[in-house]
Amino acid sequence: MSNVRKPMVAGNWKMNGSLALLHTFISELKASPLLDTVLCVPYPYLAAASKASFKVGAQDCSQFEAGAHTGDIAVGMLQELGATHVIVGHSERRQDHNESNIAVALKVQAVLNAGLTPILCVGEPLKVRQAGNVNKFVFEQLQAVIEVCSKDFLEKCIIAYEPIWAIGTGKTASPEQAQEVHQFIRTEIVKWNQNAVSTRLLYGGSVNASNAHALFAKPDIDGGLIGGASLKIDDFIAICNAAK
Ligand code: PGA
Repeated sequence: MSNVRKPMVAGNWKMNGSLALLHTFISELKASPLLDTVLCVPYPYLAAASKASFKVGAQDCSQFEAGAHTGDIAVGMLQELGATHVIVGHSERRQDHNESNIAVALKVQAVLNAGLTPILCVGEPLKVRQAGNVNKFVFEQLQAVIEVCSKDFLEKCIIAYEPIWAIGTGKTASPEQAQEVHQFIRTEIVKWNQNAVSTRLLYGGSVNASNAHALFAKPDIDGGLIGGASLKIDDFIAICNAAK
């Protein structure tokens, strides 16, 4: 964790949780000046979550501002409900909904146009890691967004490195493996835009209360994107404390 970048912990509830659980979080999870805490809840919980002291995010959005797109949600609507952040390009969206790198890029643009902060997810499947092509894979995911959004976006977004083989599997990348990719991402984004030295890079993939500290101690890991452990208030608070 660097001195220049404020640490950040973002929870990703995915399609989990309940209003009752949300109320527990609102009463027990307090914002801290030392840390940006964001909870990305399912759409129906956004309005209730906006009463919290922590920041609130959505897990996806439409690339369009409005129109005939049944079932989709525009970023402006998320903003009306108090969302400040939007996860874009999570591997589960890329897989379950066939979201291409270009579709992800258009969504990042839509989030930026509305003045919200995208949390852009990148990360490789196991086969790509085994073949030794992690950097190339992640580079192409980033490059697709830069082609659509211009290099400015790199200083306005948060990037989450989430190796797919580590998500929800209990197989965390080691702090060294995660740092290696974070350092690569940092080097590349700073080549594109020197202000990206202050862009936060989060690690995601089976982060829990026991491994968070070692991960966050690495110089290019500025916090975490937390799935399963963001549904347990004590674990989530412990992870937030590890990032401070
Ligand atoms: P996990 O999920 O912490 O349950 O591995 C992380 C994510 O998918 O954002």
